[in-house]
Amino acid sequence: MIPFAKPIIDHEELEAVEKVLKSGMLAEGKVSRAFEEEFQKYLGTKYATVTSNGTTALSTALEAMNIQPGDEVITTPFTFIASANTISMIGAIPIFVDVDPDTYNIDPEQIREAITEKTTAIMPVHIFGMPCDMKHIMDIAEDEDLMVIEDACQAHGGTIDGHKVGTFGDVSAFSFYATKNMMTGEGGMIATNNEEILEKALMIKNHGRGKGGGYSHFRIGYNNRMMDLVAALGRVQLSRLPENTRARRVKAIKYNEFFEEVDGIETQREPNGFESSYHVYAPRVTSHDKDRDEIIENLREMDVGSRTVYALPCHKQGTYLNINEWRWAEFVNYPDYKSIKLPISEEIGRTHFDIPVHPLVSDEDMHKILNALENILT
Ligand SMILES: Cc1ncc(COP(=O)(O)O)c(C=O)c1O
Repeated sequence: MIPFAKPIIDHEELEAVEKVLKSGMLAEGKVSRAFEEEFQKYLGTKYATVTSNGTTALSTALEAMNIQPGDEVITTPFTFIASANTISMIGAIPIFVDVDPDTYNIDPEQIREAITEKTTAIMPVHIFGMPCDMKHIMDIAEDEDLMVIEDACQAHGGTIDGHKVGTFGDVSAFSFYATKNMMTGEGGMIATNNEEILEKALMIKNHGRGKGGGYSHFRIGYNNRMMDLVAALGRVQLSRLPENTRARRVKAIKYNEFFEEVDGIETQREPNGFESSYHVYAPRVTSHDKDRDEIIENLREMDVGSRTVYALPCHKQGTYLNINEWRWAEFVNYPDYKSIKLPISEEIGRTHFDIPVHPLVSDEDMHKILNALENILT
């Protein structure tokens, strides 16, 4: 079976980890500082700070932005549930608006319509690596005096007009989960140009300690730190990210050409000037004789790893259908998520399937996958 995702672990990763182990300094320290420096340089932000994972990068950043219980944060329902949950964790309210069928990303015009006096922020999620329409979103944020946190957990290396995602909003969050385009098993990063957000995030992720460290504490914080052991992996993975992003894009472009000729299947489309990092390649069935589940089953029978991810968008998940059981429900008025209909997200959830696009898919594998697709779909 050609795996759907496969992390690249080479001798460089092994050596980097061994070096940290031998140093005896395993927790967050010098190696993490070096990783942050390299990451912010790669991205083009002034600051970056490591976290234990993408979820804690988002939740730490939201707290550092001063998002308060009862605040509304507008986001997409077509995402991994962590995006929405980090908003809910701090007592704020995720307001879901629908997505654009071409990009699968939040529709900026629907953001505008959803703004109320309780809205304080927007969380666009660059889904599957496809950049959101950040120019449009930042214009709305400026008009309405809102903050923007980019969930770039799937989008390391995605660009708009050559500018990397994660550099447009007030702050951004990345994940280095094991299947991500660069991975450390678990791990995350916050990036920002805003010194105040950075300073707050540094305290929040480290028990409210001040700059000097030690045992003086100035606010409630958590342990959302990364281990140097993990940062060592991150540095090696980051060094290969540009090359691996190119490798993903070459495969995605081949798939795009193939699907161009197939009736009844649509792919995620890159607007002009946008480059996806293709964390996931996810076509959707619009009017084909075969349905999504049949296609996935057929692909698996032909040894091609295929699956679907967010069959249920966030507003259809038990978490939000039962939100009144969440501890904040006593203090905060949630919308009636049960009555919310977001037809495009629901449709993409029902109809998309994912095929292998990672750098370890060889030319021979590509040939096999394209043959299998041809057999199944044409
Ligand atoms: C869009 C999105 N947001 C947030 C997260 C959370 O990241 P992590 O799994 O590292 O906590 C993920 C990770 O899978 C994600 O894909």
